[in-house]
Amino acid sequence: MNQAPENYALLTVEGKEIQLPLIIGSEGEKGIDISGLRRDTSCVTIDPGFMNTASCYSQITYIDGEKGILRYRGYDIQELCKKVMFVDVAYLLVHGELPGESERRNFSRQLNLNSMIHEDMRRFFDNFPQGAHPMCILSTMINAMAAFYPQVDLKSMADNIDDSCARVISIVRTMAAFAYKKSIGEPVVYPRQDLSYCANFLNMMFDSPVRPYVISPEAVRLLNTLFIIHADHEQNCSTSAVRVIGSAQVNLYATISAGISALSGPLHGGANQAVIEMLRMIQEDGDVEKFIRLAKDKSSPFRLMGFGHRVYKTYDPRAEIAKMECEKYLASSGYTDPLLDVARRVEEAARKDSYFIDRQLYPNVDFYTGILYRALGIPENMFTVMFALARLPGWVAHWKEMIGDSTKLVRPRQIYMGRTGDEAKREIEKRSIAAHLI
Ligand code: ACO
Repeated sequence: MNQAPENYALLTVEGKEIQLPLIIGSEGEKGIDISGLRRDTSCVTIDPGFMNTASCYSQITYIDGEKGILRYRGYDIQELCKKVMFVDVAYLLVHGELPGESERRNFSRQLNLNSMIHEDMRRFFDNFPQGAHPMCILSTMINAMAAFYPQVDLKSMADNIDDSCARVISIVRTMAAFAYKKSIGEPVVYPRQDLSYCANFLNMMFDSPVRPYVISPEAVRLLNTLFIIHADHEQNCSTSAVRVIGSAQVNLYATISAGISALSGPLHGGANQAVIEMLRMIQEDGDVEKFIRLAKDKSSPFRLMGFGHRVYKTYDPRAEIAKMECEKYLASSGYTDPLLDVARRVEEAARKDSYFIDRQLYPNVDFYTGILYRALGIPENMFTVMFALARLPGWVAHWKEMIGDSTKLVRPRQIYMGRTGDEAKREIEKRSIAAHLI
């Protein structure tokens, strides 16, 4: 972050002029520092949805939504997908550098040691009703971790930060697989120390005593790619939730649980499941144009799921990778999915349509990833869980960055538009008269 002292924004409020410093980020992003605004003018800013608000300084992820650039710690995601594994990316996000050989070994060891769930926690899974959404199970279970791993005050967690981070990244993967096994009534499969992070997850999901799972290197490669493209996305809704909750100095498990709850919404991570439901509906109906018309109709709540993004005003680079993987993985595995053809037709129709062109609405990360999860055998209600597993290193990195800064408790202001005190006084006076008459 550079502050160019000669650069200020001038603001005049009720005749008083103040200078607001211009902050320039390392990639040239500009921001106006309004931290002294209320003190100097007694005014606050209003920005619903925080469309114009940078909530913090961060060194983790850079996005250029106009050019379709996404970088973790400076590295383009395309390069990361080609050259490294998800565990390397997790290390990069959390620690700031790609791991060397010994760091990689140590990190893998920590992930391995922390992959088991406390045996008493396993019983919890039995008490969720059949059909409970796995995101709800996951957020509950993670919150409950504080009861089983009691060193949860901020100082203990910060002193053992490597362990805290590795535990949450590793154990959530085990919980996700256990939740799935419970939901289909099969015995859980324990993590294995001889398998890589992604291979272990696939094995815990699909191995069974009567149907041993054969781990395909192509499936592991695909899962690595999917996890890498989802690993962080700067101050999105769930990461902001993690930072907001974390700013109250609650423990890491509670903050991650909040992130998972935020991610479950259909406007956020829940969109990958909603995309498949939409594609199936379009496939059954057969009329793509009808759904394009519906998405444009302001009197209808229908939106084209997997389209549009708050930050990207061009093709989401993650969607580009997912689309390419659809062609590559489906061709190499021999798996066919009629929904891929529907997705292609929807994209083609939307990208020709002036409504989507004018509003710069392109496929986002969720548009093609559901098709890939289906190809891996992941059930639809687990799609958002997959997103959450992949996003864990990002959440953990932001939590770590936040507790390392002297960040204040997040506590936005508001402009009160309700009943005035005088109005209320008049109302209450009438009431006491009425009570007296009775
Ligand atoms: N289908 C139809 N119209 C859309 C869509 C869509 N998917 N997305 C945006 N629009 C329209 C809006 O109706 C609005 O039109 P208007 O200017 O005529 O009123 C305009 O485009 C701008 O949309 P906003 O909702 O104001 O944009 P915002 O940045 O707030 O929303 C969001 C972004 C929530 C992602 C939105 O594009 C959307 O709902 N998409 C579908 C859900 C989805 O795919 N979510 C996943 C996002 S990626 C992620 O979170 C991992």
